Amino acid sequence: MTYFSEDQWLAWIDQLSEDNYVIVDDFLPEVLFKDIDAFFVTKTAEDVFKKAQIGTNTALTVAPDIRGDYIYWLDPAVDISLTPVFEIIRECIEKLNRYCYLSLKEFEFHLALYPEKTFYKRHIDQFKNRSNRMISVILYLNKDWQSGDGGELKIYKDNGEELVVNPLANRLVMFNSAKVPHEVLVTHKTRRSLTGWLLYKPSTIGFLKI
Ligand code: OGA
Ligand code: MN
Repeated sequence: MTYFSEDQWLAWIDQLSEDNYVIVDDFLPEVLFKDIDAFFVTKTAEDVFKKAQIGTNTALTVAPDIRGDYIYWLDPAVDISLTPVFEIIRECIEKLNRYCYLSLKEFEFHLALYPEKTFYKRHIDQFKNRSNRMISVILYLNKDWQSGDGGELKIYKDNGEELVVNPLANRLVMFNSAKVPHEVLVTHKTRRSLTGWLLYKPSTIGFLKI
């Protein structure tokens, strides 16, 4: 059983290959979106979010002038209420491997919470000394987002154009982690997302979480 049809995956993957990014509105079935939303609320109440850092494991540092989000790393073995979401991520990996010959093996995802006035300066998601992040995946969870609330994702395109993406609930953005510079503009309201990466090789234990 698959969540999305072959044609649907092909259309998304075509666009990803062509533009290095794809945006899909109303991505998850409503019930799954609600599960993530409820999970996020639970984790917020449990106070498990940690200040996100930059760098890799040898040189991790909190840098509020670069990024101001708080994150909670997901563990598919523990966070079982999100099992269907992990199944969709695996389905995505399988399709990308089939149609893009990508050799994706694993994934790592976290919940991300940007408090008011925070941002993430322009960057790319692949690092020189840690190049296994192939595809970045973001699902926005901001149900009442309105124009003027800020927190938009800005994508810097190959052709020099800039694309501003509103972080609307159930909007999925995927892009090539090595090729797409991007930033999160200052948010004027709490901004929430499920964010992760499809990985070329399994991450090592104990490891490079930033
Ligand atoms: C990131 C990132 C973008 C977004 O976490 O690396 O760039 O829109 N997130 O949340
Ligand atoms: Mn990023």
